[in-house]
Amino acid sequence: MGVVSEARDGETRVAATALTVAQLRGLGYEVVVESGAGLAASIGDEAYREAGASIGSRTEVWGADVVLAVDAPVEEEIALLREGAVLVSLLAPGQRPELLEALARASVTALAMDAVPRISRAQSMDVLSSMANIAGYRAVVEAAHAFGRFFTGQVTAAGKVPPAKVLVAGAGVAGLAAIGAAGSLGAVVRATDPRPEVADQVRSLGGEYLAVESADVEVSATGYAKEMSDDYNSRAAALYAKTLPDTDILITTALVPGRPAPRLVTAEMVAAMRPGSVIVDMAAAQGGNVAGSVAGETVVTDNQVTVIGFTDLAARLPAQASQLYGTNLVNLLKLLTPGKDGQLVLDFDDVVQRSVTVTREGTTTWPPPPVQVSAAPQPAAAPPPAPPAAPVRSRAATTARRYAVVGLGAALLFLATAFAPQQLIGNLTVFVLAIVIGYYVIGHVHHALHTPLMSVTNAISGIIVVGAMLQIGHAHTAVTVLAFAAVLLASINIFGGFAVTRRMLSMFAKD
Ligand code: NAI
Repeated sequence: MGVVSEARDGETRVAATALTVAQLRGLGYEVVVESGAGLAASIGDEAYREAGASIGSRTEVWGADVVLAVDAPVEEEIALLREGAVLVSLLAPGQRPELLEALARASVTALAMDAVPRISRAQSMDVLSSMANIAGYRAVVEAAHAFGRFFTGQVTAAGKVPPAKVLVAGAGVAGLAAIGAAGSLGAVVRATDPRPEVADQVRSLGGEYLAVESADVEVSATGYAKEMSDDYNSRAAALYAKTLPDTDILITTALVPGRPAPRLVTAEMVAAMRPGSVIVDMAAAQGGNVAGSVAGETVVTDNQVTVIGFTDLAARLPAQASQLYGTNLVNLLKLLTPGKDGQLVLDFDDVVQRSVTVTREGTTTWPPPPVQVSAAPQPAAAPPPAPPAAPVRSRAATTARRYAVVGLGAALLFLATAFAPQQLIGNLTVFVLAIVIGYYVIGHVHHALHTPLMSVTNAISGIIVVGAMLQIGHAHTAVTVLAFAAVLLASINIFGGFAVTRRMLSMFAKD
């Protein structure tokens, strides 16, 4: 297995770290790392050697059976690949048909890390998510660097500093990471997204969700947004026009897969922002969400708004980006190496393996068949099969039975009131009322409040224990037996309640 040194200018990441080399060796692979491959991510050749890899030349690593890389190979690198070799890297298969043809011609099996389907089982291999997470964090760091002020609000002897106001457009993986990072620096964070299901996620990170009220806003079936209607876009534009003059930092991450980035912010909206504000357009490489952003560049507008269009945000945190990318690779290779014997086996019946394989044995296998993603709402449950027809009981018979039960109850009540001692009647009345009230009160308690409810029942059981203990010495054996049973049952309730509460609390206890 060869780990290459990335050739692209500005690429700082490497496909394996010392930690992941050890894991790859655990899968039975011999690993050769190109000399200097990890330097930009602060991993020297010595660290790789200590992890059990050997250091080799460019020809050696590109000539390996399995080649691990971050970026797609250039022509000369494809020429170095062996026939029948497996290449694992980012390949942007949807955008680069010519690259897939070149790899197929070279009889290389190419696995695209950026084609991992967004399903729960494949999350640990999802490079796009792990890189977007890093990029969202770094976008905030870049914005903070370009912004000439604090993010957090302060009250000092020298005066008051208001907190920065951050708006995040698009609350996917990158957007949520940006919300978390900006919030932890102390900014006031707001976010908008056409998928209403992200509102709770935004709030859970301390942000405020700004909804665009439009008819085509709906929970997405795929975890991705669809292209929005003109109605949505004009309402969203009104939201941006209203919010941006009062926003210090705008981070845009809006993306609809397979489409150019939606244009959210016009030049006029940028012109209406306060001087010194900062925009990070994370979608600059796909055409940009913001008018005037330039991929890979920083532009300062006439009204002193800095527009950052960096396309290498994840690579600006190379150590962690390499570690997460390397771990994603290891997780994919675990799937491909079931025997842990260094033998890579591709199973096309497995949806993840099928999706990532873009060329195989001289043919292009992209695009894969569509995958049912986990974010899809559950199909409406089919109505349960009709129960076998019950023997039809006549309506009249049911009514007669009901009357009979009520009559019997009334007769028993009459007997009880006529012959029972006065005290029993009083107790019986309290008992019946308690049942009715208890049934309605407890039946209406929300599930989330069942734990405090348990404390209340503990208190009631406490009262029962005290009452029953007072009766235990009663002359009547029956009363003593009943009192004993009451003490026993109520005690089980009390101690059981404490045991359950203790177990629940221990789930939150720190080690
Ligand atoms: P994602 O698919 O998880 O999130 C995109 C979000 O945009 C989704 O929540 C979607 O609902 C939302 N969206 C779609 N249309 C919208 C609209 N009209 N208005 C507002 N929101 C809208 O994607 P992820 O992984 O978070 O990536 C986000 C962007 O960041 C992509 O463009 C990606 O290419 C880019 N990216 C940039 C990097 C860089 O270095 N600049 C590095 C990594 C990712």
